[in-house]
Amino acid sequence: MKTVLITGCSSGYGLETARHFHAQGWNVVATMRTPREDVLPRSERLRVLALDVTQPDSIAAALAASGPVDVLVNNAGIGALGAFEATPMALARQVFETNTFGVMAMTQAVLPQLRARRSGVVVNVTSTVTMTPMPLVAVYTASKTAIEGFTASLAHELEAFDVRVKLVEPGYGPTTRFTSNGTRPETLIPAAYAPFAQRVFAAFSQPAAVTTEADVAEAVYRAATDTSGQLRFPAGADAVALARGRG
Ligand SMILES: NC(=O)c1ccc[n+]([C@@H]2O[C@H](COP(=O)([O-])OP(=O)(O)OC[C@H]3O[C@@H](n4cnc5c(N)ncnc54)[C@H](OP(=O)(O)O)[C@@H]3O)[C@@H](O)[C@H]2O)c1
Repeated sequence: MKTVLITGCSSGYGLETARHFHAQGWNVVATMRTPREDVLPRSERLRVLALDVTQPDSIAAALAASGPVDVLVNNAGIGALGAFEATPMALARQVFETNTFGVMAMTQAVLPQLRARRSGVVVNVTSTVTMTPMPLVAVYTASKTAIEGFTASLAHELEAFDVRVKLVEPGYGPTTRFTSNGTRPETLIPAAYAPFAQRVFAAFSQPAAVTTEADVAEAVYRAATDTSGQLRFPAGADAVALARGRG
């Protein structure tokens, strides 16, 4: 039986991905900054472990407790909505610590066992912002675009060891905690940007199509079990439509 370790399982896409792999018969190590057993089914095949992807000690402890891992899903992430000019560099660094360096650190921590066994998969969750630029999310877009390049390069590097590396690119998911997490956007919108930002937020609030938690869970599962060599897995109706435009 295969084991998947997923980061950021307290809510949203990560929580549903943990449920989905469990329903497919996998061993699941669902990790969270603050462990909560009650959000997931009680099962011998499901463990909840503490993990903050920005803390090296926390990564080492979680991997020591998890036992061998076949698939790592780097899902944990934070947003930063606002004008770049008003985004403190401390916040920009915090976004990169989680979305970019956290993914790299988790991948580096898991790779030795995957390479030694000559099998395994790393799935990195990015975003459709990497396909088509949107305003007021410049730092977030940079953090996720870095992971697109990182993953594409690493996929080539690890091919020789039969270790696969994949991208899942979700669209806009209004039902996760993502949009309510992090810094309140109004603090990052200076007066000069306010009229523009209002138009942007009005457009955000009427999306033509959205992504659900189930869309992402299924895309992560397809990516984790794919043997065709496909690198990118758009998740959600909006993401699939945008990916078509990318060609
Ligand atoms: N929802 C969207 O519109 C959207 C669109 C495209 C891509 N995404 C990406 O999808 C992924 C999941 O987001 P979501 O929409 O499901 O949002 P969410 O409900 O806010 O879930 C994000 C998860 O990441 C965790 N997390 C944050 N910082 C962490 C850290 N330092 N270490 C470990 N876990 C950490 C959060 O845990 P805590 O409970 O501890 O805060 C939470 O469980 C993210 O990578 C996000 O960038 C989201």
